Amino acid sequence: MKIFQNELTTLIYGEAIKALNESIDDNSVHLIFVDPPYNIGKTFSHFKDKWQSDEAYVQWCYEWIDMCVQKLTKNGSMYLMTSTQAMPYLDLYIRNKMTILSRIVWAYDSSGVQARQYFGSLWEPILFCVKNKNKYTFNKQDILIEAKTGAKRKLIDYRGDKPKPYNTKKVPGNVWDFPRVRYRMDEYEEHPSQKPEALLERIIRASSNQGERILDPFSGTFTTSAVAQKLGRQSIGIECQEEYIKIGLRRLNIL
Ligand SMILES: C[S@@+](CC[C@H](N)C(=O)[O-])C[C@H]1O[C@@H](n2cnc3c(N)ncnc32)[C@H](O)[C@@H]1O
Repeated sequence: MKIFQNELTTLIYGEAIKALNESIDDNSVHLIFVDPPYNIGKTFSHFKDKWQSDEAYVQWCYEWIDMCVQKLTKNGSMYLMTSTQAMPYLDLYIRNKMTILSRIVWAYDSSGVQARQYFGSLWEPILFCVKNKNKYTFNKQDILIEAKTGAKRKLIDYRGDKPKPYNTKKVPGNVWDFPRVRYRMDEYEEHPSQKPEALLERIIRASSNQGERILDPFSGTFTTSAVAQKLGRQSIGIECQEEYIKIGLRRLNIL
């Protein structure tokens, strides 16, 4: 295991479960974003994302979920992704340990070849969970979006005592539209499942404050760390492939 650091960011080259065990204190992280391999046969540099069975995959997920829950502070939040097929298992498992506040759909436009004999998948699930449903960070004023109805057409809202223009801003619902990262986008890196900075920006702004610590155990191209650094948060990112560690070191300006 090797550790690289700058003022705000720690990057760990190593295996996630071992690194979680050995390098991160319990109750020390405010926000966790987990985007693990999905067990759908992708190739991540020298790592093949294919378990012997679905059961083996979810058992492995349960192991790092338990560790992530331990690492979170008592008012911490976790956002967790996996495939649409595996998510029901993780959802059932997590709801005994944390409160799931939102089941988010990350919806995107099509890219590449689409299914023709069935309805192709154009979304991925994200669970938003908190340790304490009565006290957690949710900076709604930092993630407001333009309301589509009413406000756009300058409609008047007659529901209250006095008519007034519709509110133009609202907290996003649980369907999030962000384009996937594509070749030629500024943020593009060579990785098969890089997540968009805009997605991480919403999560980090909503569920953490400046100076707090964010953890991403399967960092890939270190999108979480890059956005955390831009927004003045501390972060710890773990990744087991050297090729992606090199991307992280460059992206985060760690020399
Ligand atoms: C879905 S990708 C994460 C993509 C990332 N969110 C991004 O925006 O680039 C999952 C990553 O986990 C890494 N990985 C797989 N098994 C791992 C393990 N046991 N420990 C640490 N990293 C692992 C893979 O190399 C891959 O880069």
